[in-house]
Amino acid sequence: MGITIIGSLNYDLVTYTNKIPNAGETIRANLFETHTGGKGLNQTVAIAKLKHPDSNYGIKMVGNVGDDSFGKELVDILKQNNVNIDDIGILSDVKTGIATILVEQQNGGQNRILITEGANGKTDYSLEQLKSIFNNVSNNEEQFVVLQHEIPNPISIMSLLKNNFPTYKIVFNPSPFQPLNKGDWLLIDVLIVNEIEALQIVNSVYSKDEIAKHESEINHDFVKGYTTLCEKFQKHLVNKDGLSAVIITLGSKGVLYSSKDQPIVEYQPAKSGITVVDTTGAGDTFLGAVVTQLHQQSSLKEAIDFATSASSITIQRNGAAESIPVYSEVVSRH
Ligand code: RIB
Ligand code: NA
Repeated sequence: MGITIIGSLNYDLVTYTNKIPNAGETIRANLFETHTGGKGLNQTVAIAKLKHPDSNYGIKMVGNVGDDSFGKELVDILKQNNVNIDDIGILSDVKTGIATILVEQQNGGQNRILITEGANGKTDYSLEQLKSIFNNVSNNEEQFVVLQHEIPNPISIMSLLKNNFPTYKIVFNPSPFQPLNKGDWLLIDVLIVNEIEALQIVNSVYSKDEIAKHESEINHDFVKGYTTLCEKFQKHLVNKDGLSAVIITLGSKGVLYSSKDQPIVEYQPAKSGITVVDTTGAGDTFLGAVVTQLHQQSSLKEAIDFATSASSITIQRNGAAESIPVYSEVVSRH
């Protein structure tokens, strides 16, 4: 049993500001920091920090960095968290991926992120390579594989995995968003999207009339509107042996989720009374927490509850990977 994350590693260059400049405008910011990040790395660190301390399953990250000081820092944080890095490539012909992030301090710690893919652009694998990456795991063993969209073609990796390792459970976070084709849904066991990505799915899948209907429903009643979307997405996930779970995170409004076993959409509100300083990494913490909990056989409801607590801690600290809490911290504040 284990969890493998195939994805991006970015070095985050973060400027904290009260206001975002307009085109042609120069303004003073409050603070600049560098942090370890990338959705793949953040989710890996979240899984490593949030897994139950008594459980001893392996966690592996698969991806690439450049042969530079940024890459070294990223690999170091994985090592510090006991992640298997045998399949992290250190490439000499490209630079480590970079995320330029603006955090609006007076606007709920909201972020704006620009990524330059660098070495993440090389993160693609043939079947032979995947077989060697998963060579310690038998085809019948339970294994979660987590992918995001900061690498060139996660769908092709997912399809190779589904066809050759059918028992593996695939968790997909299509972020940044790219349209999902009809067949792509069949590869996913757990789909995790935020509110923006959920709407992007709607725009790419449904007709103009349906899009307008969904938008007006969301404007009228936010949670109810997204509940309808969650139900709809659930119907696309017909992976009959899988968990077939859909999770839509709604930021400060909470989270909606459903699964094949529990098709009625459930709502979990966000934690209240929290001072938000930087939301970067919140979604990744949430995902990591859900995956560790599901891997440890918790119900989806328990997993979502734990993940809500975990991500509420991440948003109270600056940075991405470094802001993710460990298991005991979540339990003590739960
Ligand atoms: O999800 C947050 C992450 O998105 C940041 O760490 C940044 O690197 C971008 O990948
Ligand atoms: Na954070």
